[in-house]
Amino acid sequence: MYNSKYQEMKKQTVTKTRSLTIETEKKLNAQILLEGQSSAYYLSMASWCDKEGYSTSAEFLYRHSEEERQHMLKIFGYINNAGGHALQPVIDNIPHQFKSLHEIFEQILEHEISVTYSINDIVDHCFSIRDFATFHFLQWFVTEQREEETLARRALELFDLIGEDGVGLWTIDQELGKLENFVQKPGPGGVTDGVV
Ligand SMILES: [Fe+2]
Ligand SMILES: [Fe+2]
Repeated sequence: MYNSKYQEMKKQTVTKTRSLTIETEKKLNAQILLEGQSSAYYLSMASWCDKEGYSTSAEFLYRHSEEERQHMLKIFGYINNAGGHALQPVIDNIPHQFKSLHEIFEQILEHEISVTYSINDIVDHCFSIRDFATFHFLQWFVTEQREEETLARRALELFDLIGEDGVGLWTIDQELGKLENFVQKPGPGGVTDGVV
């Protein structure tokens, strides 16, 4: 019984032409869309910050947008190398207006949490069908998401610690530019391999 079930799974997961099930390919393409949306979202935020004079935050967000694009391309390569077809996503409905710098970083945290859930769903799926190669590939994203959550939370802490009055907002902008240093710092419970 177990053997025939296992053989069936093996047949579905890896064939002579592909190493991904159609379902897994669909989920990875959905993740491509999400990474592309992250990149576009952060680019839009960067532009707003630039326009408003938050130049350090703008630089940080331009970099972050590019990193999200690299995440997307990582999945492109993985799908195509496994015999699937990575699809250029259609991205629309990206907001261009934001109320404040604080709102931007609140939205980043919410967005990153939703990306974490999405990655976790695909990891769970891959484990359940014994696609351990894709499960392994996704571990990089699991670690990355933890770092992204830490970074966004740290950003919001800065608003509480410094306060927005007087030169506070200017100081917060300066500090936001150093966020990557914060997550790259090794230490107890801290981060890890320096990949942001
Ligand atoms: Fe990402
Ligand atoms: Fe992200």
